[in-house]
Formats: sequence, C-alpha cells, structure tokens
Amino acid sequence: MKKVRLLLAAFFVVFPLLLHASDFTVGKNTFLLNGKPFVVKAAEVHYPRIPRPYWEHRIQMCKSLGMNTLCIYVFWNIHEPREGQFDFSENNDVAEFCRLAQQNGMYVIVRPGPYVCAEWEMGGLPWWLLKKKDIRLREQDPYFMERVRLFEKKVGEQLAPLTIQNGGPIIMVQVENEYGSYGEDKPYISEIRDCLRGIYGEKLALFQCDWASNFEKNGLDDLVWTMNFGTGANIDEQFKRLKELRPDAPLMCSEFWSGWFDKWGANHETRPAKDMVEGIDEMLSKNISFSLYMTHGGTSFGHWAGANSPGFAPDVTSYDYDAPINEYGGATDKYFQLRKTMQKYSKTPLPAQPAPPAMMISIPSFELTERADIILGADSLVMDSPLLTMEEMNQGWGSMLYVTTLPEITTESVLTLSDCHDFAQVFVDTTYVGKIDRVRNEKSLRIPAVKKGQELKILVEAMGRINFGRAIKDYKGITESVTLTSEQDGHELTWNLRKWNILTIPDDYQTALRALRAASESAGTKPLFKGSGYYRGYFNLRKVGDTFLNMEQWGKGQVYVNGHAIGRFWSIGPQQTLYVPGCWLKKGRNEVVVLDVVGPSLDAYAPSIMKNLKKAKKAKSANDSQYALHPSLFAQNRPELDKLNIEKSRTHNNPGDKPDLNSATPAVVAQFAPGNGWQTVRLNAPVKGRFVAVQVSSTHAGGSDASIAELYIRDAEGNRLSREPWVVKYADSEDILRGNFTADKVFDLQESTYWRTAKAAALPHLIVIDLGSEQTVSALDYLPRAEQGAPGSIKDFQVFVY
Ligand code: GLA
Ligand code: CA
Repeated sequence: MKKVRLLLAAFFVVFPLLLHASDFTVGKNTFLLNGKPFVVKAAEVHYPRIPRPYWEHRIQMCKSLGMNTLCIYVFWNIHEPREGQFDFSENNDVAEFCRLAQQNGMYVIVRPGPYVCAEWEMGGLPWWLLKKKDIRLREQDPYFMERVRLFEKKVGEQLAPLTIQNGGPIIMVQVENEYGSYGEDKPYISEIRDCLRGIYGEKLALFQCDWASNFEKNGLDDLVWTMNFGTGANIDEQFKRLKELRPDAPLMCSEFWSGWFDKWGANHETRPAKDMVEGIDEMLSKNISFSLYMTHGGTSFGHWAGANSPGFAPDVTSYDYDAPINEYGGATDKYFQLRKTMQKYSKTPLPAQPAPPAMMISIPSFELTERADIILGADSLVMDSPLLTMEEMNQGWGSMLYVTTLPEITTESVLTLSDCHDFAQVFVDTTYVGKIDRVRNEKSLRIPAVKKGQELKILVEAMGRINFGRAIKDYKGITESVTLTSEQDGHELTWNLRKWNILTIPDDYQTALRALRAASESAGTKPLFKGSGYYRGYFNLRKVGDTFLNMEQWGKGQVYVNGHAIGRFWSIGPQQTLYVPGCWLKKGRNEVVVLDVVGPSLDAYAPSIMKNLKKAKKAKSANDSQYALHPSLFAQNRPELDKLNIEKSRTHNNPGDKPDLNSATPAVVAQFAPGNGWQTVRLNAPVKGRFVAVQVSSTHAGGSDASIAELYIRDAEGNRLSREPWVVKYADSEDILRGNFTADKVFDLQESTYWRTAKAAALPHLIVIDLGSEQTVSALDYLPRAEQGAPGSIKDFQVFVY
C-alpha cells in the first residue's frame, strides 16, 4: 500500500514536470515562464565586484527587495587574463554564482559580452587584444572574432548546462551591449548571435539592449529588444518607437539606472530615491519587466575600474552607484523605499532582510615601517629602444619608466608627450620637474635649461582603460612621441627624443613583495622618485569586520591587504576610503602594502612625528632621539565617497575663456520645439571655427533653469564631428549642488546625463565647446533631458562659431 502511494505521489510530482519542461519564452505583450505571464524583476549585480564569501548575502538582499532574477555581466578580461589561460575559479566561479542564485529561488540573465561597458577596464575586453596593432575591436576582425568564439565557448562550458531548458536558472542571454552607441554593423551582431545560439541552444531567449534613440540601427528580427534608460526618464516615450515597430512585444527596461558612477576629480553622483521608486512603480503597474542597474554595485577591486570618454575620465574604485544596496551590502533609504513599492506587487510578504555577514570596525592608526623604491618593482627592461607602449612591452597594468639622455639646451624648453597614458611624473636626474595628467588634458610641461648628458626620466602610471565609445582602443604608457621645443635666438628648435631605456613595473601583489624583499631597510633613505614606492605595515585585530581604509594622506596608487588587491586611491577624491571586506581580514596580524606612485603627504607622517617627539623628550642622550619617521594609515567604520580635494582643477572657465559675444554675429538665431527627442538646427551658412558657443535666452518652462543632455556638431557635408577631442571652454553656470550636472555631460555619449544650470542662475546661459581644432560647422543636433516634459529645455537661442 505504502509503495503504491509513493508511486502515485512520484507520478503527480514528476508527470507535470515532464509535460511542462521549464521554459522562458516570449508571448503576446508578456514574457512567459512555463507558459504563464511573467514580469522580470531583475537586480543587476556583478560577481567579481563582490567577495565570494558575501555572494549569498547579496543575493538574499536582492531577494528581500522582491526581485525574482539576477542580471550579471561576464567580464572577459578577468576570465582570460592571458591569452588562452582561462580562470573560472574562486571569485571567478560564475557557474557557482548561478547555482547559488537558483538555490535562493532566483532566475539569472547572463550578459556575456564580448563587450560589456560597465565602467570595467576596457569594457571587459582583455588588454592583450591590443598586441595586434591593427585590431578592429567589436567588429568582424578575424582575430577578434576568433578570440570571441573561444571565450564564449569557455563561458558556455560553465553556463550552458544551467539554462532553464536544462533545469538551471538562466532564462535569457544578451547579445553584445548597446551596440547602437558604438556603430551600425548588423553582420557583426549577427555573428555574435549565431555564436551564442550555437552555445546555448535554439530555445534559450536571446536579447539586445540599446537606447530608444538608436536601437533600430542594429536590431535583429529574431531577437528580443529591450531599452536602457535612467531614473526619471519618461517611460512611455522610451518605449514609443518599439511599440510602433513591434506592437505585440513584451516591454523591458534592461538597465534602469538607479544612480550613477563616480570619476576621479569629479563630484560624487547621486540620483533621488523618489524618481527611482516612481519609475519602478510605473513599470510594474504596466507589467513592464526591468533590471535595476545597479541594485548592488559593489567594488571594482584592484585595477579593474575603467574610464569614461570622450576625454579621459577614469572611474573610482567604489562602484557604490548610489544603489539601493550600498557598496558593502547595507540597506540604504533607497532600499527601504523600493522594498515598500515592490511589496505592492507581490501577493506574499517579501522575504526578510538577511543579517549582514560582518560588522563594521575601525582600525587605529598604524605605521608602515618598510619601504621599497618603485624602481625595485621593475620586471623587464629594454635598452636603446624607440618608444614602446606598455602593451608592446607585454604588460597589462601598472607603470612604465622611460629614461633618455638629454642634449644641451641652454634655455627653458617645453616637453610634450604625445600621448601620455595616463599620469606622468617628470624628473631631470633626480629632480622632480612636474606632472602631465591626462585627466586634466595636460600634454606638456616646462623644463629648465639642461646640460648634455643629464637624464630625463618619465614615470608613467596607467589607470583603467577606456570602457565606452570608440576610444576603447586605449594603449598605455607613452603612445607616440616625446619632444622638447625651445626658442633660441628667435628660432624654434625641436628635439624628437627617440632612444630610450624602458622599464615596466606591474601593479600586482607579487611585484610588491619582490620589491620589498629586495629593499633591505630603505625606509629611512630618500626615495629615488619623490615619495613613490611600496610601503608595508601591519595591524592586529581581535575581531574581524568590514572596514574602510582612509587614504586621504596618501598620493595615488594601489593597496593590497593580506594579498588581496583592494583598489586604486587618489588624493583628489571624491573617494577617500577603500572598502576592505572583513572576509579578507583575520584575527591577529594583517598585512597592508601600499604602492604609492606619488608618495604620501607630510600629514601621513604626523602620528609618527608626535610619537617621536614624546620619545625624544624622554630620551636620555641625543643618540636615543634619532628615530626614523614612517607614514601611517588608519581605517574607519564608514566610507567617504564624497570629498573632492583638488586645487582649482577646472579645465575650463579660466580667465579669458569667456568670449565677448556682444559684437559677434551669430551663425544662427533660432528656437527649439518643446518635448523629448532629438532636434537639428542648421546654421545660416557653414562657418569655420574652433569654438562653438550656444547662448540660451529663454526656456520652454519660462524659468531660468536650462539643460542639455547631448550635443553633436555637423561638418560641411552634414556628418557628425567626432567628439573625442572636445573639451568645455566655458559654462556660465553648472549645477553641482543638486547633482553633478557639469557642462561636459553634453558630450559624454550618455543620453541620461545632462548639463544643468544652477538654481536661480540668471539667463542668458552660455556654453562654449572647444572642438580641438578648426572645423567647418553647418548644423547642431540637440537632445533635451529624457524626463517627461523635458525639463530645462531650450526655447530661444543663438549659436556662435569662432
Ligand atoms: C550603459 C552600459 C552599462 C553601464 C551603464 C552606465 O548602459 O550598458 O554597462 O556602463 O551604461 O553605468
Ligand atoms: Ca549626456
């Protein structure tokens, strides 16, 4: 009898499963999960940005928000750090992450690139691709495609067994990433699609994500189309075109930006919780699926943070993103507001918030008593060589030292680096003469008169490779030439310096250890290159917990704690502390190594000075008072992500930057229409000039608040000019109180970011863009803000070209 009952029970459990193998498909105006309508409520999280011991906690945090899916990128470059060497172990074990998701009742959307953007080094592409100098990235370059196929196959070995059809949690896979903002190339996208289809099977849903303004460029007929847009956007407007083209398609916002990322030397970014929650509410009320990018951002540990372009704007280490779950897994006000709204759309009470896996601790100041010169980290050298990039020297990350012998130059001269990627410190013999910083668009520097045979030494530190736009082919080191120019007797003389000794200095923990081993007690001696070098110290813990190393007194570089690469620091901020997860600390002695390419400030030595003063007072003889001074560090129990610390660093609004337009003739006087979407205005006639000024004299709302999301300028043939060389010359007003609404946002390629004038700043408003060189300008494309009613949209305006 018992047996029969068991058999019957088994029949009723197994039979429906057989009938209804798990499936996720596209139905009429909705996704279908096992045949039933399903709204995807996805939380974007990136497993390499979370220490593995904390994965499950973060997954449960997302679940407690009412999310049913996790959306993940696969970063190619962490999985194939060297060509042909794949790593899916430990923190890279993506299959394990997916299994953990499934165990916690979550589905998974996978976005395996090959390109992903994500404020991640080179948008996820491995640097070694650049060793093929003529490579066309994200195109049908044979070598690029061959490497893509190999990589995707390896990822497939991990993940294809985990598709929903195979009983796993994966419901959808994304093809490429926002290709519309890169180019127009359906054959390439088709090849990526075919590659993924071959790996994940015919049944798995494949999708593309793009912007409302450009998704048609590369949209393939047989893929699901989803839209990316930010908090505050006018949602109906974002789906309008998609609905016209595919009236029966389910709608999904594949990246709804909860906040935004931070860049070194720029203000901390936030987005109001209210806008985010209202957007989620509106989408859920309309059965629109979404992925909240980021729900938990985490940290770009080590050297993995990327850089934005046009211009060069490297991202900070923290990827907090002003997301509902903060960098260290904590619930924010945004989290609680979102949870409340998500509860409205759930029939059952949402799961409770899980207990945090670690407490917050602080660590009192401790000294770093060991020091090694940065030169001791060198691991390869070429002599008498032409200039080589870091990639040509076969190094991925870190610094380069370029050394050459100088000719006799009897007057001051100008040293120009074309181009310096990214932060150069220049020395004549051992005397520091200055820096050339790509972030500030610096290219040259004055050098005092030099004698024949003196040495010019250029120490170049690389930051993250650009992850957005056409500039992703971002070589490091000095990429082309170094020249010296001086004026002698009314003649301009130029020296092209061609013969170099070049050293590479990788920025990894093993290199730091090697350098420290080689440096027996150089702590008391004078550093060769300013204060640059490796510094090591220890602290003791009785209890382990999450903590934040305060780097404010230090210059610029990398930190390693117990061998874990913690990330970049840079005194300019806005990030001043580095998140150290408690799971990487231990009871007893812990080791900290700091690689500082600039050197700690005097303030870092203050505790040591104090201590030594006390000792000196107590000392009986003069001899006893000879103590070495060491820089120190401490950790606090909360982060500091919002403390800019720059000398007046603005690249624009310098004296003389504001043009006098009173007597100038406008190239056009016109009016823009109200509402969202792109508009073009033609000039009366094409005009030559390097600077384009837009003067706003009224707005559609009637107030003085003006905004521009994006601007393009067209040449004589009507083609859009490249915006890569652009910089802001002048802006009469920039609102950096209500957010980071700086003028460069009009050419950052992002439709969700914008220039906004400060509250109560009076009309007329003026923005001037330096095109980098003289151009013929025939027309202007303008995009107002994406929110309902296009706030701050411009009515009357004039354009000047000079
Ligand atoms: C785009 C990309 C993402 C990310 C965001 C900005 O939408 O697809 O990878 O870079 O922008 O955070
Ligand atoms: Ca923008």
